Amino acid sequence: MPPMAPSFVRAGVREMSGYKPGEQPLPGERVIKLNTNENPFPPSERVLLALREIDGEMLRRYPSPTADPFRAAAAKLLGVSTDMILAGNGSDDILTIATRTFLEPGAKLAYPNPTYSLYPVLARLQDATSVPVPWEGDWALPIDGLLAAKADAIYVANPNAPSGTFVTPTKVGALAKAFNGLLLIDEACVDFADDNCVSLVREHSNVVITRTLSKAYALAGLRFGYAVAAAPVISEMMKVKDSYNCDGVAIALATAAIADQEYAKKTWEYIRSERQRLSAELNQMGWQVLESHANFILVTVPDGRGEDAYLGLKRQGILVRYFPGLRDKIRITIGQNHQNNALLAGIKALTATEKAA
Ligand SMILES: Cc1ncc(COP(=O)(O)O)c(C=O)c1O
Repeated sequence: MPPMAPSFVRAGVREMSGYKPGEQPLPGERVIKLNTNENPFPPSERVLLALREIDGEMLRRYPSPTADPFRAAAAKLLGVSTDMILAGNGSDDILTIATRTFLEPGAKLAYPNPTYSLYPVLARLQDATSVPVPWEGDWALPIDGLLAAKADAIYVANPNAPSGTFVTPTKVGALAKAFNGLLLIDEACVDFADDNCVSLVREHSNVVITRTLSKAYALAGLRFGYAVAAAPVISEMMKVKDSYNCDGVAIALATAAIADQEYAKKTWEYIRSERQRLSAELNQMGWQVLESHANFILVTVPDGRGEDAYLGLKRQGILVRYFPGLRDKIRITIGQNHQNNALLAGIKALTATEKAA
């Protein structure tokens, strides 16, 4: 039982449950960690070099309030202007800034569901209402349902979490055109897909794209993300963010990370190829895998008991993610070859135990 909430806490906060992050093993605990979609490779050598070059003077001073070195590098990489980029302390920070910028108390946030479970938490903190709209068949974008929700903002994770499915930029563009409110496309895992929606920010002033360095650049521990949108939208979001929302170390390391595209792309290619291999092997074993465009896969457990599979793998030292809302499924992060092989062996051992029982 959680401790009793003090009466002076906002009623909306007292009554809500916060976001539940995936479990993190203790330092030194030996597990095969395929539960929170981290990149299985270390960050680029250039990032580690930039870390070694941090000096006391840099730490003594306040950092650039708008993370300008990073903004300049990201703008160049994406072919947009610097005033179209906002940096944040992870993309969760960007999502918080967006929700505070675009949703009044009492406003409505719609999103195709199931999706990233932080969205309703952010809406709730803003005293806004969430309108989950079920995905159409085969995880197609429910454009009519989202428009019918008459929301003030729509958030779409693309690729979606936890399904890994992808909506084409043409479909997203059609929604942006038909909708008058803010359309946020959460591209946390987009570097593992074949396409992205960045070009939409040039055509549609109501589109905000969010990205993270947690996955594609192996920097989940650093906390760095960013938004791309039309300059007048970014300048409003700037008013809402904390004054120094990115620290100096993070700005230097994130800038070094995106400068090394060659290294990052190698990890993306590897992950895509392992994703294909792992999906094929699991499908062959009767563990049905949704076609994924992200660095994870959503797998249906043959006996329909996702939680048992999660617990059985955990007993073998393999961590995957189970969501109570998706009872017959588990979500598996794509690891390095040897980790994926250990997962396959773990699943085979589960099946063997079941047969013997
Ligand atoms: C769809 C989606 N958005 C945002 C995030 C958060 O990323 P960050 O680590 O940048 O806060 C995640 C992380 O798992 C995610 O899956």
